[in-house]
Amino acid sequence: MKNDDRYMQVAIAAAKEAGRIQKMHFGHSHAVEYKGEIDLVTVVDKLCDEAISRLIRSAFPDHDLLTEESPFEGRNSRWKWIVDPIDGTTNYFRGYPCFCVSIGLEEEGEMRLGVVYDPMLDELFHGERGKGTYLNGQRITVSRIAGLDQAFLSTGFPYDVRKNADIYLSYFGQFIRRCFGIRRPGSAALDLCYVAAGRFDGFWELKLHPWDVAAGSLLVTEAGGKVTDFKGEPFSIYSDEILASNGLIHEQMIQVMKEI
Ligand code: IPD
Ligand code: CA
Ligand code: CA
Repeated sequence: MKNDDRYMQVAIAAAKEAGRIQKMHFGHSHAVEYKGEIDLVTVVDKLCDEAISRLIRSAFPDHDLLTEESPFEGRNSRWKWIVDPIDGTTNYFRGYPCFCVSIGLEEEGEMRLGVVYDPMLDELFHGERGKGTYLNGQRITVSRIAGLDQAFLSTGFPYDVRKNADIYLSYFGQFIRRCFGIRRPGSAALDLCYVAAGRFDGFWELKLHPWDVAAGSLLVTEAGGKVTDFKGEPFSIYSDEILASNGLIHEQMIQVMKEI
């Protein structure tokens, strides 16, 4: 088996295993800890983190591993796994069925593959650089909506929203006046997959972490979309801003952002 296939196989196995754990515990009450005022972590986040880490570690002991719920394990490798064990923890905790597992693999600073799994809908998004994006094995592409006034957008609010609500609401306020509709689902990785699948036409958010966007950003570009910062500059998973779209409305979204 080629290495690339093995990377994807392990990523999918790990995402499915975490999804199985999430589904098994979904709807039950969970012990939580607070990382911030409104930023929580459940025991299931930790179970998923452990399960994914175990599978990746046993297959690739020499690779770097960055997961949201554990300290970074650096091995000076060219390969770095970037994992969000549950993206959408608040939803998960409240029994709102919109969350996923997100696993990305970076090679020397460039995303190579991404896998996002939504266990409630049994939707597996996967993609590799240069090979397209797939949903449950079927190739997907971004939408063809070309005007912002017809665009269906999504966004999210960072955990410091109580302090910085004005700035986040100014973006929301500008877009809600000009687009067709906005949703705030609560899982950035799924938001990105939905742009890749043409369900949303665009997505923006501030202050996300690499594990929120590593897999999803690649899935958008591999589905024919565009991902940049708010000025249209090249995107980095380590930066503060993400603007993802079908490409056709990208410049219109940047113009709106420039007015803020
Ligand atoms: C959060 C979700 C949410 C976004 C937050 C993220 P978490 O991730 O992606 O949609 O608005 O900014 O932190 O904490 O559920 O893994
Ligand atoms: Ca997340
Ligand atoms: Ca998380």
